[in-house]
Amino acid sequence: PTIRREDYRPPDWLVPDIALDFDLAAERTRVRAKLDVVRNGDHARALVLDGDELTPLSVHVDGQAINDWRIEDGNLVIDLPADAHVIETEIELHPAANTKLMGLYASGGLLCTQCEAEGFRRITFFPDRPDVLSRYTVKLAADRNAYPVLLANGDNVANGDGLDGRHWAEWNDPFPKPSYLFALVAGDLQANRDSFTTMSGRKIDLGIWVRAADLPKTHHAMAALKTAMKWDEDVYGREYDLDIFNIVAVDDFNFGAMENKGLNIFNSRYILADPDTATDADYDAIAAVVAHEYFHNWSGDRVTCRDWFQLSLKEGFTVFRDQQFSADQGSAAVKRIEDVRTLRAAQFPEDAGPLAHPIRPESYMEIGNFYTATIYNKGAEVIRMMHTLLGAERFRAGADLYFDRHDGEAATCEDFVAAMEAGGGIDLSRFRLWYAQAGTPKVTARLAHDPISKAATLRLTQEAPPTPGQPVKQPMPLPLSLALFAQDGEKRHEQLFVFEDAEADLSFDGFADAPVLSINRNFSAPVIVETDRTPADLAFLSAHDDDPFARYEAMQQLMLDTLKATIEGRTHDDDAVVAAVRATLEDPALDPAFVAEAMLLPSEQFIGDAMAVVDPDAIATARDALRLKLATELDGLWRDRYQRHAAAQFEYSPAAKGARRMRNLALGYLAASGSPEVGAQAFAQFEAADNMTDRIAALGTLANGMFVERAEALAAFHARYCDNPLVIDKWFTTQALSLRADAAEQVVALLNHPDFALTNPNRFRSLVGAFSVNQRAFHRVDGAGYELLAQQIAALDPINPQTAAKMVPALGRWRRFDESRQVKMRAALEQILATPGLSKDVFEQASKSLG
Ligand code: ARG
Ligand code: ZN
Repeated sequence: PTIRREDYRPPDWLVPDIALDFDLAAERTRVRAKLDVVRNGDHARALVLDGDELTPLSVHVDGQAINDWRIEDGNLVIDLPADAHVIETEIELHPAANTKLMGLYASGGLLCTQCEAEGFRRITFFPDRPDVLSRYTVKLAADRNAYPVLLANGDNVANGDGLDGRHWAEWNDPFPKPSYLFALVAGDLQANRDSFTTMSGRKIDLGIWVRAADLPKTHHAMAALKTAMKWDEDVYGREYDLDIFNIVAVDDFNFGAMENKGLNIFNSRYILADPDTATDADYDAIAAVVAHEYFHNWSGDRVTCRDWFQLSLKEGFTVFRDQQFSADQGSAAVKRIEDVRTLRAAQFPEDAGPLAHPIRPESYMEIGNFYTATIYNKGAEVIRMMHTLLGAERFRAGADLYFDRHDGEAATCEDFVAAMEAGGGIDLSRFRLWYAQAGTPKVTARLAHDPISKAATLRLTQEAPPTPGQPVKQPMPLPLSLALFAQDGEKRHEQLFVFEDAEADLSFDGFADAPVLSINRNFSAPVIVETDRTPADLAFLSAHDDDPFARYEAMQQLMLDTLKATIEGRTHDDDAVVAAVRATLEDPALDPAFVAEAMLLPSEQFIGDAMAVVDPDAIATARDALRLKLATELDGLWRDRYQRHAAAQFEYSPAAKGARRMRNLALGYLAASGSPEVGAQAFAQFEAADNMTDRIAALGTLANGMFVERAEALAAFHARYCDNPLVIDKWFTTQALSLRADAAEQVVALLNHPDFALTNPNRFRSLVGAFSVNQRAFHRVDGAGYELLAQQIAALDPINPQTAAKMVPALGRWRRFDESRQVKMRAALEQILATPGLSKDVFEQASKSLG
């Protein structure tokens, strides 16, 4: 059954208060719920309480046991005479058997919950929709030895002992919240405790709860949390509201983390870090996710979503907020480059394929499938465009008005835009199209120059491609940041041009010589820009543009144009790339972290996205050849940079991160030659490293090539970290991403490794998910990669449909490939669809993917 946005109707019944009583154990948990229900509006409809795999043991209405309830589609339906009643239900759960990891489940020795989006209905019968807000009182009872710590949302109001070694805790959350923000945790946990004093002087107790052995790995997350709390006060004026803020790390988790009110639950990979086990990228991701979940306290919890079509209301805005936060902690330029790379790698392909949807979708079968890069990352770009259009100050006024108007409410994307309009003083009527239209707009820019009149003319066009259900689109307002550079490097013109129509002409006077165009600076609009700039123009910008993103972009475009020319067999000049890379490497004014970004070759997938038909083999060959050419011709520079940025003692600072980034990039280029000397060098780095960034970079270098040290390094790494599942995930991923011709065979072998398991989402993603983005291996012409993925999706589906469904889009890109691959990819999708008992999660993704 398809759910449609236009069918939204306010809830028939509200539940202002709920009391929950849990008798917890891994095998069998008893849940008693007491709901105060109130009829909402003038109707005679029955009370329908959502349920998913629940059986009522008893139902009481106003204290009396009743028998005339019924179950329809798993939901509990009760006819009620009056407008207000007290409903009590009792059910039994089996957390240890809950492999879907939605609702109440066991992870390691813990019991924990995940309710967003529709997991609460797996815990108790309830109107499980985000516009039903309730005050929660929660009592937890469990064995004191097995579960010494009992946590839920809000404040801990009472504790006590029970019979037979049991104890209990009562929690009270004064803020009305939707059921998807409910959480509980029980287990043998220790806390890293700290405190934060808010801007109004309230002292908040902070706790990051983990297994005792992991306590030393929580300091980075705690520091990030306190920095985020302060940042949200400084930048958005948002103060924390409860007296306690707890975070719990769990090993089995379907996503990154969850913003449950006052009790965030995290995938342990976004909490645990120390230099020996976490990379710089892990450290950065931990800070970003800790901040993201914390920021949800306002953008998500205090103001929540009316229905799941509004998901981007909280996710797009909160991603934008965490991006701003991270940009403020280090290099804003590098952060922007990383964010755009993520958008292009994850969202652009989605927007160009069969699963394309607007950031506010019109329909879904399974909401779990809509936690997408479009909702999150494109959603953040849409918020960012409003920020660009309004400027920081007026954007803040709009945000203040939004929080003010909707505090304690379940709001819509429209509410957000309306608040931005009123608070920021701007008309966003046409801008709203960004919420309604899917697909990445394509902009063409042609700059002409007339030496007689000394005028330069810029002709712009925009076009949004058709997407499923949306054959025809309207032009959208695109804030395009533009600049023109004179040949001597001087910036002669700069503006923010809001490009609203299908076409526009702009002219600029006073250019005796043809200027060079810099466009979509800082990636001001999430669009694809096609220009006719020459390799010389791009090389010029890569050396002179004062917008770091545009500078990076010019180098990427130069590399991409060269690679495409190679692939398409056109004559071209690779030397322009070599010269530009050399100039950037030798520019002493540049931040090494930025240089390393700029030197990175476009990914194989990104090259494919720029081609009419993706040819994975030709792409791999051309990219390897360009890497080798840059390696050979700039050999001295790479050696020099490798030495210059030699590892000092580990430090987590922007400068030290930049040095590691540059050094490992140099190692990667040096390794392109395959020379035994570099293999030895990589192995030496692997052994001597005092941090995971350097160690895994060396391992990756060895795993990609034919170096003699490869097997020994992989074995040593596994032996060293066999007790640390997060690091063993990296070991799987490194091999799944290998550029070697035998990568698929390696993955098949690893599926049989004793450490591989379908039950842990991190492990599944580390091997199968990583393999599906290894373009040359996954798209091997014999179809072995497709077959492998189809089998693994079918195997995982009965265990964890949500995680299985996330893997389907890799096959959904079939239209982008040649006929022979198309046939094999479609066959893999058909094979998935033929699996008996397929979940609706995977069914939706696979059937939509086939088109
Ligand atoms: N709200 C969480 C976050 O973005 C993610 C929840 C994911 N839920 C899901 N069903 N995919 O922070
Ligand atoms: Zn979020």
